[in-house]
Amino acid sequence: MDFQKVIAVATRRGIFQSAFDAYGGLAGFIDYGPVGVKMRRRILETWRKLYVIDAGCLELDGALIGPEALFQASGHLGEFDDALVNCEDCKKQFRADHLVDGGEEMSRDELAKAISGMACPGCGATLSEMTSFNLMFSTGVGAGKGLPGYLRPETAQSIFLAFPWLLRQNRGKLPFAAAQIGRSFRNEISPRQGPLRMREFTQMEVEHFFLPNEEPLLSDDLRDVTINLLDANGKETSSTVGEGFDEGIIGSSLVACHLARAQKFLTTIGVPDKKLRFRQHGSNEMAHYSSDCWDGEINTSLGWVEVVGVAHRGDYDLSAHGNASSKEFRVAVPGTEKETEVWVPDIGKLGKEFKGDAKFILEAIRDVDLQPGFSVDVNGSKIELTSEYMSQKTERRSEMVYANVVEPSFGLDRILYCLLESSWKSDGEREWISLPQETSPYDLLVAPLMTKDGLDDKAHEIMKSAIDIGVDAYYDEAGSIGRRYARADEIGIFFSMTVDHQTLEDGTVTLRERDSKDQNRLSIEDALNKVRR
Ligand code: GLY
Repeated sequence: MDFQKVIAVATRRGIFQSAFDAYGGLAGFIDYGPVGVKMRRRILETWRKLYVIDAGCLELDGALIGPEALFQASGHLGEFDDALVNCEDCKKQFRADHLVDGGEEMSRDELAKAISGMACPGCGATLSEMTSFNLMFSTGVGAGKGLPGYLRPETAQSIFLAFPWLLRQNRGKLPFAAAQIGRSFRNEISPRQGPLRMREFTQMEVEHFFLPNEEPLLSDDLRDVTINLLDANGKETSSTVGEGFDEGIIGSSLVACHLARAQKFLTTIGVPDKKLRFRQHGSNEMAHYSSDCWDGEINTSLGWVEVVGVAHRGDYDLSAHGNASSKEFRVAVPGTEKETEVWVPDIGKLGKEFKGDAKFILEAIRDVDLQPGFSVDVNGSKIELTSEYMSQKTERRSEMVYANVVEPSFGLDRILYCLLESSWKSDGEREWISLPQETSPYDLLVAPLMTKDGLDDKAHEIMKSAIDIGVDAYYDEAGSIGRRYARADEIGIFFSMTVDHQTLEDGTVTLRERDSKDQNRLSIEDALNKVRR
């Protein structure tokens, strides 16, 4: 199976196609069709089950557009860029690190030297000097030019900004983890690989927060997960996650937990273990926020493709937002309480002076370290809170620190592509997608042998019974039964049920299993129970 063939099958069978084709297409954007939407949903459900339901992550669905100040603080405005080279002659644009062997591991200086004087791969003219290109999409928020805003380049920032709120939902206790599934946007320089490099894509991210000196331990159930590791020095090991951690190949216990979880998730949805490895970033490759990072990669016809990054982000993000905004992003360290002089709002004076607005002021200062002169925005006007609106008092307060975070970040679109490629099977007679039932788009094909003698009515009746018990069933009456099996195999439908004349007589059907092609005659009830997940 190769890239072109996956794209052809995906288009023919309603999985995905490039978007806006009526207007010539726009690289980096795709639409998912009826089968693709189902496959994505199945992958998402498996992910939610593992991270949100089993591991108890709090879930968030954050806004997609954020203000400039957010991305200034997060470092995305200053650092989230790629090295760009243009061709003045043919006007093509290139990512500099894609023009040089090993470019992704080079520093900017090394890359600039390697690119200098290089000929354009398109037309042979000399390329321009390398420049930096910020990958965020910008927009204006509000009428006219509006306030500068950006489409989020990662879902993670929504979780970091919601941290004080989420912490309260967790009764102020660490550790806790928050999960989010949502779209992110990156204005990639020259995306050419369909779902592998997208300008609009879906992420499934977890931010796992903990006190700096209380990093969660590697639990026994995750220690025994086997994993292929390739460390930053190029050393390959195949061992359990526990051994990798004990031998110091994986430096953090929580990174180890999340490598194990990622391995479990990817193999559960059908990625073959032998095509999966976790590769540690070298220092030149690391994102601006991270101190250690491992990419989960799947071996495809295009080489190793990153589908998940597990990064130790330290307190980079929370301290950035704590320093740049008026909110308190730190947490109290248990057991460190001592008498401290603090400023507290004078609720009576605020009420007298600001009437109905007082409650908005109190809400605005809820998570801040209050000091005289603090200003708040209420209904569009700035109010400065001088010392007359507050008083000093002695309270028992704890030492405040920024939580640390480990983040597994999955790219759904890439996962789907790699699954399609890695689960493709052919035996010379037929071709099929051999996905586990969890990620097959449908559990069951229901096919009447012919559309007469009431066979189609019976098949519709069975469809209804299947749907009523939660079986995801697909009805197909078009063409020979062989053609229908072939179509079902090509999108990986797990079972096929044929309704024939005997069904009308004795209530039995033929149930065919996709991978083995084994066929069994069963009662409708037994067949549906077998299919039911
Ligand atoms: N949050 C990590 C990433 O988007 O790459």
